[in-house]
Amino acid sequence: MTGPYRDADGDETEVELSAASTPFDSDVEGALRPRNLGEFIGQETVREQLELVLTAATRRGVVPDHLLFSGPPGLGKTSLAMIVAAELGGSLRITSGPALERPGDLAAMLSNLIEGDVLFIDEIHRIARPAEEMLYLAMEDFRIDIMVGKGPGATSIPLEIAPFTLVGATTRSGALTGPLRDRFGFTAHMDFYTDEDLARIVSRAAEILEIPVQPDAAMEIAGRSRGTPRIANRLLRRVRDYAEVRADGRVTVPVARAALRVYEVDELGLDRLDRAVLRALLVQHEGGPVGLSTLAVAVGEEATTLEEVCEPFLVRAGLLARTPRGRVATAAAWEHLGLRRSDRDPIEPMLPVETETGPGPRG
Ligand SMILES: Nc1ncnc2c1ncn2[C@@H]1O[C@H](COP(=O)(O)OP(=O)(O)O)[C@@H](O)[C@H]1O
Ligand SMILES: [Mg+2]
Repeated sequence: MTGPYRDADGDETEVELSAASTPFDSDVEGALRPRNLGEFIGQETVREQLELVLTAATRRGVVPDHLLFSGPPGLGKTSLAMIVAAELGGSLRITSGPALERPGDLAAMLSNLIEGDVLFIDEIHRIARPAEEMLYLAMEDFRIDIMVGKGPGATSIPLEIAPFTLVGATTRSGALTGPLRDRFGFTAHMDFYTDEDLARIVSRAAEILEIPVQPDAAMEIAGRSRGTPRIANRLLRRVRDYAEVRADGRVTVPVARAALRVYEVDELGLDRLDRAVLRALLVQHEGGPVGLSTLAVAVGEEATTLEEVCEPFLVRAGLLARTPRGRVATAAAWEHLGLRRSDRDPIEPMLPVETETGPGPRG
C-alpha cells in the first residue's frame, strides 16, 4: 500500500452525514476497513464472484482480469480494491480519474508497476480522453505508446509494462465509454446493504472502536443508514458522542434514537438534504415530474450529488420515481413528510415525536 490515502470522494461537495466522505472521516475509516474477503460483510454475490476470479487466476499463475466496481458512494468499492491487492499479495497503487488529466501522469504510474500490482482508479468515469486511450492498450496488451517529439517528426515508442490488474471504481457505470467498459473482465455491481448486514457492520465497528453497543441499538442505527456502510459507521460515531456526553456511554435503543434526532436523521434514514429534495419536489413542483437540474437548483446542490447520492436511496426507499419526463414523488413521499397535495403553505414537517411506546406510527 502506498502511504496514507484520502478517499477520492472527498472531492465531492460536502453533504451532511451523507455517503460522501470527508478527509477526517477517511482517517477513521482506515481503521474500520475490512482487510480481507472474510471480514467484508454482506454483498454475498459480489464476494463469491470475486473470490472465484481471484482464486482461479492465482491457481493459473496469471494476473486476474481487470475489475470494475460500480455502485453508490460508501458501499465498499475502495475497501474491495484494497482487499484484492491484499489477497493477491501485490501492492496497491491508487489514483483517480480526475487526477489523470494528462496522459503523462498515467504513463508514469503504469511504467512504475511491477508484476502483480493492482492499479486502482477511483471515479474512473471522470478520466480524460487521452489518458483513457492510453489505458486501452495498457489493459489489453500491457503496453503503452510514448509520443516523442512534436509535429511531423513525432514518433511513438512502444513501452512494455508489467502485467497488472486494473481495478476501476465508479458511481456512474453508465458514464463509462463502451470501449473502456469492454476491457474489464468482471464488473461487480454493489447494491445497498440489508439492515441485518449493516447491523453486523455497526457491531464490528463498535468492537474495533470499543463502544458498548447493544444489539438492538446496532439494528436501530442500521435501519437509518440508507443501506450504506460508510453512513452506518458515521452514525455510530455520532451516537457515541451523544452517549458519552448525555448518557453513561452505553449505546441503547433510546440513546441511539435521541442522538439521531439531534442529527436530524429520521427513522427512514433521510437526512436534511434528502428531505429538502423531497420538499422541493412536493411543495414547489406539486410532486413532479420535474428535471433533476431544477431540483438541484431548488436545494442549492450539485446535480451530480443529487443523482449519485440522494436519488438512488430515495428511489430504493420508494419515495421517488424516475420517469422519462422527470422525477416524481410517490404517495409514500407525501405521507413521509406529512404533506397533502392541497398544501399550498404547508406546516413545517417535524421529525416524529418519540413516545414511551416507540418512534411513532412509521417507526
Ligand atoms: N462490506 C463491508 N463490511 C464492513 N465495512 C464496510 C464494508 N463496506 C464498506 N465498509 C465500511 O465503509 C467505509 C466506506 O467504504 P469504501 O470502501 O470507502 O466505499 P466506497 O469506496 O464504495 O465509497 C469503509 O471504510 C468501511 O469501514
Ligand atoms: Mg471510495
